[in-house]
Amino acid sequence: MRNQFFTKGQKFSVGDPMTDTLWDSYLPEKFQTLSPFQWTPISVIERTWKYLSADGVTSVVDLGSGVGKFCIHLSLLSNHSIDILGLEDREELVSLSNSLKVNWETPNVEFRKENFLKEFPVGRSHYYCFNPLYETMKGSHSIDSIKQKSAIQFLKDLQSLKQNLLLLTPKSKLITFHGFGGNFLPGFRVVVKEEISGGEYLVWERE
Ligand SMILES: C[S@@+](CC[C@H](N)C(=O)[O-])C[C@H]1O[C@@H](n2cnc3c(N)ncnc32)[C@H](O)[C@@H]1O
Repeated sequence: MRNQFFTKGQKFSVGDPMTDTLWDSYLPEKFQTLSPFQWTPISVIERTWKYLSADGVTSVVDLGSGVGKFCIHLSLLSNHSIDILGLEDREELVSLSNSLKVNWETPNVEFRKENFLKEFPVGRSHYYCFNPLYETMKGSHSIDSIKQKSAIQFLKDLQSLKQNLLLLTPKSKLITFHGFGGNFLPGFRVVVKEEISGGEYLVWERE
């Protein structure tokens, strides 16, 4: 049975070019409005698949997976050839992601309700994030009001993320869109730097 979110989407046939408007039309309205600020644009996911497919990808983790847009569309682009894990600490978003996963038929994607700062998933070949820590600093376009805005919390979380990333094995990659929260990542070097969809797109390699 198709779920309540999917029945709201625009008509989509296999082979149609994907657009943000089309993908986002399957989201509840409040999450469609947030899309330009919170969910990865299709062009960035396409660029990521181009990079990953040439870089020996085996598994990808989205640190802060939101509504699951990055994971689900990446899985479709990869023709279900890689394992993709989305970690998200908001229950509502994990539940929505799981519904969308069923409807987009992407069984190789797994969503878990987890705080990646506390349970960091080591051992994957590639990691992705769209500035997940920034929300504690931001005044507008927040997903909700659950998380306290706090510059001190932001700095603590950034330190914790950097420490976790140091656990990655050499040659692992971290792909960032609109950054990870800082300018310099100890133990990593930048191997790709581009501007896509108005945002900075970087690939960092663990040394
Ligand atoms: C800017 S959104 C990006 C969503 C998704 N990666 C995408 O590109 O479409 C950042 C997401 O990270 C989540 N997030 C922030 N901190 C987190 C944490 N410590 N653990 C898990 N999720 C987190 C937020 O709830 C939000 O959904």
